[in-house]
Amino acid sequence: MAQTSVRTKSDILNSRALVSIPGGVNSNVRLSAPRVFFEHGRGSRLWDVDGNEYVDYVLGQGPCFLGHAHPIVNRAVAQACDTGMVFGAQHELEVEAVERLLGAVGWAEQGRLGATGTECVQAALRLARAATGRTRFVHFEGHYHGWLDNILMRVDDGHAVPVSLGQVAGQLAETSVLPWNDAEALEQLLAESGDTIAAVIMEPVMINNGSIEPLPGYLARVRELCDEYGVILIFDEVITGFRVARGGAAARYGVTPDLATYGKAMAGGWPVGAILGRADLLSLLSDGRVNHSGTFNGAVMAAAAVVATQQVLDENPPYEAIEAYGTTLMAGLHKIGEAHGLDLHMQGLPAGFHVSFGPPGPVLDFAGMNRLDLARYSRFATRLAEHGLWVTGRGIWYVSAAHGPTELADSLERFDNAIRASLP
Ligand SMILES: Cc1ncc(COP(=O)(O)O)c(C=O)c1O
Repeated sequence: MAQTSVRTKSDILNSRALVSIPGGVNSNVRLSAPRVFFEHGRGSRLWDVDGNEYVDYVLGQGPCFLGHAHPIVNRAVAQACDTGMVFGAQHELEVEAVERLLGAVGWAEQGRLGATGTECVQAALRLARAATGRTRFVHFEGHYHGWLDNILMRVDDGHAVPVSLGQVAGQLAETSVLPWNDAEALEQLLAESGDTIAAVIMEPVMINNGSIEPLPGYLARVRELCDEYGVILIFDEVITGFRVARGGAAARYGVTPDLATYGKAMAGGWPVGAILGRADLLSLLSDGRVNHSGTFNGAVMAAAAVVATQQVLDENPPYEAIEAYGTTLMAGLHKIGEAHGLDLHMQGLPAGFHVSFGPPGPVLDFAGMNRLDLARYSRFATRLAEHGLWVTGRGIWYVSAAHGPTELADSLERFDNAIRASLP
């Protein structure tokens, strides 16, 4: 007898989305994720259109650091919205937003707001080129800095090559790609051609691939080498900023870049980025010698979201609680995996750790990711979603200030259930 399967509301919406939206999604990153349509999120949880509830460890790919729909941020944004949305001119909140960001990171002297991390990275690279009069920059294997032509790449035989059809391969000609966490490789390149290199850009923790921390002394050595060769050091703190410490990775590891880019956790879920750094570099924007523009840069609601989020982080810093939650969660997941005889592999910072399958022992670089079974984990992530844990198929688990003891207990129970249901 033919079985009739019941179509969920998500299935029906997905069919509709596939007609009008290429792939049914508005970002390629979502192409491989389960096609769940969400109705709303509150705190650490999400509810889909079919009434299923999830503990959320995606957090919009990181931004919802305070949890979904934080009441203070929402109220601030709603009030700001009543005053108008975008003026094509200045308003007080954008000044306060940048002042608060500078106050939080401590080391930077000036900053500009942008709309996304991708653009702020481009602004930082342009400033570095303008300041040094050089064109090349160093990019590290496995680090993600946005989807534009000069920075979206994979490595083939030591060279940066495009990953997307339509990418202009020639734009990667100015990019030197190196293994990260390898100070000698950088030293060698700078010794050979340091006078052609404008910038070294990196995720100070490689969260996008494996949540790999810098080796002890690595960031400090990179800082020294950049100083020696007159190269601008850019930390891309779009994920780590305001997440791994109040002052981001720069504060956590005690190494100061020349420029840094921010986004995600900075504004409680609002689409906004920032570039912060040395005044002598950012001042190249002051008289228009270097162009950084954008209709929505510093828009009223985005600025309000930054101010409110930074205020919450100042008044009620969640860092210790998040560190404790992530640590306990990782230990709990590990224990459950072990009890089922699974080769679960887990590492990274508690506020954004990485889960996969593979042999024990830390992965220290991008090449080491090859020994993890990422495809198997991606399939497992779909099982986790079916059991009420919303996680990325890429293995990053983000923790928010809204995750507490109830979420912890629910998460461990759901994780156990998902494994039991997957066992033969
Ligand atoms: C480290 C890093 N830099 C830059 C970006 C790009 O930011 P956006 O997606 O806001 O353009 C991302 C996005 O995930 C990121 O993880």
